[in-house]
Amino acid sequence: MAEPNSTIDETGTKLSAPGRVNLIGEHTDYTGGLVLPMAIPFSTVATVRAASDGRYTFSSTSFPGERSMKPDDQSESVGDWSDYPVGVLRELQKRDIEVPPFSLSLWGDVPLGSGLSSSASVEVATAVALLNHAGATLSGAELALLCQRAENLYVHSPCGIMDQFVIANATAGHALLLNTRDLSYELLPMNRGALAQTRVVIVNSEVKHSVASGEYGVRRRELEEGQAIVRARFPQVKDLGDTTPEQLEACRAEIDPVAFMRCRHVVTENVRVREAGRAMIAGDPDALGRVMLAAHASYRDDFGASVEEVDFLVDTAVHLPGCHGGRLTGGGFGGCTVNLVEAHLVETFTQALHEAYQKRFGIDAAIYVCEAVDGALARWDHTPEEKR
Ligand code: GLA
Repeated sequence: MAEPNSTIDETGTKLSAPGRVNLIGEHTDYTGGLVLPMAIPFSTVATVRAASDGRYTFSSTSFPGERSMKPDDQSESVGDWSDYPVGVLRELQKRDIEVPPFSLSLWGDVPLGSGLSSSASVEVATAVALLNHAGATLSGAELALLCQRAENLYVHSPCGIMDQFVIANATAGHALLLNTRDLSYELLPMNRGALAQTRVVIVNSEVKHSVASGEYGVRRRELEEGQAIVRARFPQVKDLGDTTPEQLEACRAEIDPVAFMRCRHVVTENVRVREAGRAMIAGDPDALGRVMLAAHASYRDDFGASVEEVDFLVDTAVHLPGCHGGRLTGGGFGGCTVNLVEAHLVETFTQALHEAYQKRFGIDAAIYVCEAVDGALARWDHTPEEKR
């Protein structure tokens, strides 16, 4: 799971980007809210070689086939893995960054469709590798926004900014508290006080989800519908990110009941993210665990984004010794849970949870104990002069 810094050898220049797990703050990142993710030690490695055929060629060790195009190619997305790196190239071209011909090969071990951001990892690894090849740089915020645009506009997946931002900008040993309205952020250490004695344990339900699938878009529309009503009523409100629970409540009669519940999840989630940030600063794993559990209940009941398997994992986890709390992480409808567990009890925790899940659903859950690692920019030694 550990990856090298940028290296140059006869087979090309390699740059890497991590995966991410979101500790708390779900579906708050496209209505100006708060999120608290960290980068985790899975990676995508993008290897770039200069090409003498004047073309751009993309390949992946995880999928068969390659995609090759001329620099002025404007073809549409094709609906497979290659859309992610091609989308990034398109966005670089739109910014007039001249990328010399290349052959790009992707390798990755971020579990696919599991809520750990394999897509954003591919985008950000591709972006830093192609920027490096072009002798260009971007700020951390620009890099994240460019990758998000690639996913929104070329892959046609309506994701927010959280994944690309943390994967680009994370610092080892820290979670990143991001305000998605203005992209200001704070790095919160994972080792304050009693938190130092805990570990982040990710459990893969192995139930697949996909951001591109319909539910994500439906939720997004419901939130935007509720947000428009709150704004009309309270002109000082910019978005759900600065809507108080009381303001939302005051609009209840005007908002469709289902959209109201979705909005209530988001508005209360923003309050919980702040609380989680305070718990991290205080080094208080009990407080952090409690707010993670409350977030799960809201994600399940108000946002309607959980599934039976995931609820079982959270309910079982929280009754095991040493577990402070846990919740469904990522886009929802399957994927992984994230749990905060006392370090000395991690082994018994993982064994007991694995066994219980196996017994109940016959599924062999992969479990990852993760520290917070560096994002792509911290791994990239990008002094352009040195690269030329
Ligand atoms: C996916 C999206 C993110 C975010 C989460 C839900 O991971 O890519 O932008 O919306 O779902 O919090």
